[in-house]
Amino acid sequence: MEIPLGQRLRELPGPMLLTGHSGFKGTWMTLLLEHLKVPVVGYSLPREKDSLFDRSNRIGAIPEKFADICDYRALEDFMDFYRPSTVTHLAAQPLVLKSYEAPHRTFEVNVMGTVNLLDIAHRKDYVKAVIVVTTDKVYRNHNTGRAFVETDALEGKDPYSSSTVGSESAVAAWQQLSRVQGGPAIVSVRAGNVIGGGDFAENRIIPDLIRGVMSGESVVIRNPGSTRPWEHVLDPLVGYLTCLEEVIAGKTLVNLNFGPKNLSQSLTVSNLIDIGSEVFPKLRSLVDFTLGSGMNLEADLLRIDPTAAKNELGFYPKWDSRESILLTFQWWEKRLRGLETSSQLCQDDIDQYFSKSP
Ligand SMILES: NC(=O)c1ccc[n+]([C@@H]2O[C@H](COP(=O)([O-])OP(=O)(O)OC[C@H]3O[C@@H](n4cnc5c(N)ncnc54)[C@H](O)[C@@H]3O)[C@@H](O)[C@H]2O)c1
Repeated sequence: MEIPLGQRLRELPGPMLLTGHSGFKGTWMTLLLEHLKVPVVGYSLPREKDSLFDRSNRIGAIPEKFADICDYRALEDFMDFYRPSTVTHLAAQPLVLKSYEAPHRTFEVNVMGTVNLLDIAHRKDYVKAVIVVTTDKVYRNHNTGRAFVETDALEGKDPYSSSTVGSESAVAAWQQLSRVQGGPAIVSVRAGNVIGGGDFAENRIIPDLIRGVMSGESVVIRNPGSTRPWEHVLDPLVGYLTCLEEVIAGKTLVNLNFGPKNLSQSLTVSNLIDIGSEVFPKLRSLVDFTLGSGMNLEADLLRIDPTAAKNELGFYPKWDSRESILLTFQWWEKRLRGLETSSQLCQDDIDQYFSKSP
């Protein structure tokens, strides 16, 4: 008989430690875990103004500490206090353009932050499994448009992507330490362009467009022809939880991709704007395709193959890229009209997700 999602996590003695719980994915993950009644504690930097965490008044909603992942002692003390049975590691500097401005800090947080977490987890008997969230940008990209599979070579060009390859190296090292010395199961999980209501990060396409809708100012589109595996945040998050539950049950996994439903649907930034215009008709008139920097700072073509997650976990993403984009703009449309609070809107999407068959 199939075990319902969340049950194995609920049966563990300790909570989940969620690093980066104040971020976009972290806020959605906390709401999802609350929905599944899985205990969770959070460790991140303080909330950012206008972030989903901020807008949905999440401060104090779960036991939490606001501190740097690079502070080994603070992280270890927090873990020893709550004795988490599992860890989902989301804390990172995740922005490509910011990594050009702050390459050293990006490496410090993304590589040494992961090293700190894995090293502490390795030494604690109470930690049984760790998921390290990286990205599809870890793969060597020749811009051929072929969807990446887990065995493809890793290589980052820009500082962010390179730093996530560094996180993957740390994962490989501590996986080997667990094999040789014993220790928690560790899996790296790689998702595509994760979207969903409430993200307000700088230089991400949907937040930029929403800021344009709110202010009426034009939005510079850097690369209208770039394709991305746009996927709704709930799909990879449910995938990560499924992965954790499988490794808790004894399955051996090393790394897994999580991509959108319908791999053949490859949508460009320009397609995304067209879909957004179905919800916000003035969007097209706000975008400015002429003022991009002209510098190729990001990859053109990115696709990620989620077949292994289907085979290994029986996990099927529920929403394709078009549906994910539409849901995200609809979330914002309802939010800007003040119809529901941010957390209610997330809750509605969570309910819709679980009522939908794959
Ligand atoms: N959003 C996407 O499209 C996407 C796609 C693929 C992978 N990812 C990965 O998912 C993870 C989460 O991304 P997100 O979009 O939620 O990012 P985000 O910027 O919204 O959140 C980042 C979180 O990490 C925390 N953090 C950053 N630096 C920290 C530090 N030094 N110490 C402690 N906490 C720190 C922040 O406080 C925040 O809670 C990242 O690893 C990112 O690379 C994101």
